[in-house]
Amino acid sequence: MRYFIGNWKMFGVPKSRNILNKINKFNTKDKNRNKYKVIITPPYTLIESYAKYFKNKKIVVGSQNCYQKDQFSSNTAAISPYMIRSIGAKYTLVGHSDNRAEGDTDLMLKDKVKYALKNKLKVVFCIGENKLEKKNKKTLSVLKKQMTKVLEKNFNKNNIIVAYEPIWSIGTGKIPTGSDLKKTTVYIKKVLKDIFNKKSPAVLYGGSVDGNNVEIFREIEEIDGFLIGGASKSSKKFIDIIKNYYR
Ligand code: 13P
Repeated sequence: MRYFIGNWKMFGVPKSRNILNKINKFNTKDKNRNKYKVIITPPYTLIESYAKYFKNKKIVVGSQNCYQKDQFSSNTAAISPYMIRSIGAKYTLVGHSDNRAEGDTDLMLKDKVKYALKNKLKVVFCIGENKLEKKNKKTLSVLKKQMTKVLEKNFNKNNIIVAYEPIWSIGTGKIPTGSDLKKTTVYIKKVLKDIFNKKSPAVLYGGSVDGNNVEIFREIEEIDGFLIGGASKSSKKFIDIIKNYYR
């Protein structure tokens, strides 16, 4: 199974659903539709209405983040996994570099993963090195630390997906070379296999994915799909990624 996950970040109002309607329409007619899943993570404000609307359709709705507690608490503006699940989300991102940059620590991320799984949300756990770490050839050690500090053997790996998003690639148009990305993806899967003591969960790539460069990524069979930012805000760009992946 391949995954095409669109992360809208701070984008979208109720009528933005039109974008998803077009993607859904493409998906229902696509001859390759059984080979992949489309998941969209709109902002919190749209999860409930979109999840209701797409309930029996092809698009699955997820959350971009969740608070590191289970149900209810006295944390102003916080949204728990329980609350997210109760309005129809099936997935949540955890550990996106935007949120790490705003203060999410490994300890907080571990609780987010734990409580998300407890509330039956599938977790898309994001990891990635920054520009300086890459320059200093620290990529693999940074990624290993990000995974081992948060993921535990007793988490159900069937409900976890890992998304590798190099920070220097997000929104920049810069992407890793094919050989670097293959090496990194194989390494990530090896670390995950060691953590879970069985087959690695799915590993996605994210960072400036578009309809042109997806042809490079599809050569790397270890990549199980994509986490797509900018291009997920346009139905045409998002559909082009899927079309060109299976061309
Ligand atoms: P871009 O596709 O805009 O580079 O964003 C990637 C990302 O951060 C998705 O979570």
